[in-house]
Amino acid sequence: MAVTLREGREEDLPVIEAVAQREQLDSRGARPEEYVVVEEDGVLIAFGRVLDHPDAWEIACMYVSPGRRRKRIGTRIVEALLARTDAEKPVYAVAGAPDFFTSLGFVPATEMPAAIRAKADYCRRHFDDVCLVMKLER
Ligand SMILES: CC(C)(COP(=O)(O)OP(=O)(O)OC[C@H]1O[C@@H](n2cnc3c(N)ncnc32)[C@H](O)[C@@H]1OP(=O)(O)O)[C@@H](O)C(=O)NCCC(=O)NCCS
Repeated sequence: MAVTLREGREEDLPVIEAVAQREQLDSRGARPEEYVVVEEDGVLIAFGRVLDHPDAWEIACMYVSPGRRRKRIGTRIVEALLARTDAEKPVYAVAGAPDFFTSLGFVPATEMPAAIRAKADYCRRHFDDVCLVMKLER
């Protein structure tokens, strides 16, 4: 099976939006270039997003299709997203899957920039997941 990782494109957005709605992921205001997607034989099987807030980077909207999980695809996506960040701002995730983010070096955060606090409030109002705010320890 040919698995490729690439930057998101406009034509990916309808698929991403549909999955995000079903899986309770935040894809509000999605722009294709914020995404890294993974295709297997031309079918989109995974994606993740990095948001460039004024006060923080945010890894968001992580998804790997169920039959492809625990094969490090999510890890590869986060690594590709982190390569787009710089050390000028901290990196956060509002995590519905804390164990996954822990494996990547994120730790639970009590202090957070305004954009991340707003995101956490949104997630807790709209989603059933834990919505734990986590910060990357670099
Ligand atoms: C979270 C998600 C993106 C992880 O993708 P993935 O490709 O399966 O993750 P990886 O294979 O890179 O996992 C890396 C490590 O994270 C941890 N991890 C990942 N999924 C886990 C789970 N369900 N339970 C516990 N630990 C988990 C493990 O330590 C894993 O390493 P291991 O398999 O050697 O034990 C995927 O499970 C998913 O799409 N879940 C549904 C949507 C979701 O919850 N998104 C996150 C919202 S913030």
